[in-house]
Amino acid sequence: MSSAYEEIREAAELAAAPRRSPTRPLVRVDLSTSSVAAEADRLWEALPAPAAELDVDLMRVGTLGLSWLEPVVEVERPDMGAVVYGPVRPEQASEFLAAALGDNPTEQAAQWLIGARTPAPGIPALSDHPFWGPQERRLMQWMGVIDPESIDEAIAVGAYEALDHAVGMDPMAICDLVLAAGVGGRGGGGFPAGQKWKFLLGAPGPTKYLVCNADEGDPGAFVNRVLMESDPHLVIEGMAIAGKATGADYGFIYIRDEYPLSIARMELALEQARARGVIGQDIFGSGFDFDLEITRGAGSYVCGEETGLIASVEGLRGMPKIRPPFPAQKGVFSEPSNVNNTETYANVPLIVRNGAAWYRQHGTESDPGTKMFSISGALERPGILEVPFGMGMDELLLGCGGGPPDGHTPKGIQPGGPLGGLLPASDLGLKLERPPFTERGVLLGSGGLILFDERASAVDLTKYFSEFCEDESCGRCTTCHGGSQRLVEVLERIMHGDGRQEDLERIGAIDKTLQNANCLHGQFTPYAVRGLVNYFRDELDVHIEEKRDPARVAPGLTRYLITDQSDPALEEAAALCPTSCIARAPVEGAEDDDASEAQGDWRIHEPSCIHCDACREIAPDAIRVEDRFLTMLSVV
Ligand SMILES: Cc1cc2nc3c(=O)[nH]c(=O)nc-3n(C[C@H](O)[C@H](O)[C@H](O)COP(=O)(O)O)c2cc1C
Repeated sequence: MSSAYEEIREAAELAAAPRRSPTRPLVRVDLSTSSVAAEADRLWEALPAPAAELDVDLMRVGTLGLSWLEPVVEVERPDMGAVVYGPVRPEQASEFLAAALGDNPTEQAAQWLIGARTPAPGIPALSDHPFWGPQERRLMQWMGVIDPESIDEAIAVGAYEALDHAVGMDPMAICDLVLAAGVGGRGGGGFPAGQKWKFLLGAPGPTKYLVCNADEGDPGAFVNRVLMESDPHLVIEGMAIAGKATGADYGFIYIRDEYPLSIARMELALEQARARGVIGQDIFGSGFDFDLEITRGAGSYVCGEETGLIASVEGLRGMPKIRPPFPAQKGVFSEPSNVNNTETYANVPLIVRNGAAWYRQHGTESDPGTKMFSISGALERPGILEVPFGMGMDELLLGCGGGPPDGHTPKGIQPGGPLGGLLPASDLGLKLERPPFTERGVLLGSGGLILFDERASAVDLTKYFSEFCEDESCGRCTTCHGGSQRLVEVLERIMHGDGRQEDLERIGAIDKTLQNANCLHGQFTPYAVRGLVNYFRDELDVHIEEKRDPARVAPGLTRYLITDQSDPALEEAAALCPTSCIARAPVEGAEDDDASEAQGDWRIHEPSCIHCDACREIAPDAIRVEDRFLTMLSVV
């Protein structure tokens, strides 16, 4: 440990001590995007008054990952361990605090009790919870525990210690260490990070740049967001070590603008890191300079592709380019550069601190280490967790995530975002590492896993993802833009009852053409439809042959009918309908003045109905969705 770091560490430990070993109750409130969406910000405003009365301290933290229980609150008492509770509603602030600080929180705060994160007598351990038990939290070790807005808290638990060590290392030795650990790129490709760093190290200088890809555009992926919101210094430290390893002294963190809290926390963390001297000039007196800036992306999906991202960093329109040249040859402002995903960089301090063998204690031969996954969709317990690579997907989604709610049956999985493809539920046993997914023709991707149940239509999902790819195509190559348009047209036709068996050949031809697209966006666009054809063929055939949609969502194959005119819930359903297609039929002979009196039958104006299903949720006993084709036959 250098004397410069030792001094910083001692000061930070002193500053963080009251929260590290509290002498009076400490209440940690999860203030992350998921919890704020559940009104944790209102809870945060409601807590100070009762906290003052009860003599307790309040503290902001990132997330523990228990998204379905937000707002999550942890209470650490000197006489008891750290106990996690949720969901705590803002209006329950006083009642909750009194209960959690009472003589017998197990009983008094039973309605909120989740488990004890650190041993607490008589309280079930969080590690016994099915969501928590199988996790191996390395990257997530301090998430939800430290204040992400305090550099003291981060340094007190070891932040920048690995950087202090790395600044004294030979750059090639750092690359070799990262290569020996086998950390693969977490953006989806899995390319060995150490190898990529060697490309940049060997590139001509003096100017070289690092880029952190925090664009995270996949629907269902929120791994990078959670990292930046909950432990921003881990990302900064990882990038600084990468700078030392590659000879880069400047970097860009590219964050999509839909992540305002990530941007704010990363900006604050950078300011604090600069002020503390852990980034900037002559870090720890080693002579190594490194600084970072944040680039805000406008939320275009292809800006996540590294060449599109580089263009966007440069202030140009984010359009991917043909590679080579690769970023290590010609990157940001045409200088040699390295792009890695946020989670890739975040692993690096842990490897420098603990070694390659430690890193490989978990994971598989092809994918060593642990991986953060954001799990969502038809799940009892959606959230974010970190598990060893190689764990069964069923253990993650059915075990930790609890599977579909209300007794519904898993139907399939959407891994790796819109370009990742679809898998049937029979593949739930696949191990979470890249090879088994690639063998099944899908991508494990960057960590987003969405489970869907029998209520979802695989055809509709495929159309959604194909439309997404069409919308997000940068338009530079007609192959991609036109190809995805044709794909959407075919799927739309099938969903409107005009599908034919020849459409499968058409889909195959479009897929083949898309393989000539300039970048992976176009080339991977057909993954979803391939999944549909390969694994949900029966459902597709029912659409084409029987003109029927078993999930009853296809607008051309189903229709909404009113079955009970007397149900008062219809009034509310009509008010809620976003296209106002539910209304009473005009009563013959009624004058305009009588309009309020005229109570004709409720009708659904079919051409305006967008099949959002909101009306049926409000009036389930009065509105039914039926197969259009069968209904028409019975009418005839
Ligand atoms: C259309 C498209 C979107 C992408 N989006 C992301 C993204 O949001 N985040 C990311 O890290 N990688 C994304 N990638 C992969 C990047 O191009 C690149 O491989 C990655 O950032 C490299 O980092 P890694 O080696 O650490 O994974 C995307 C690729 C494509 C084709």
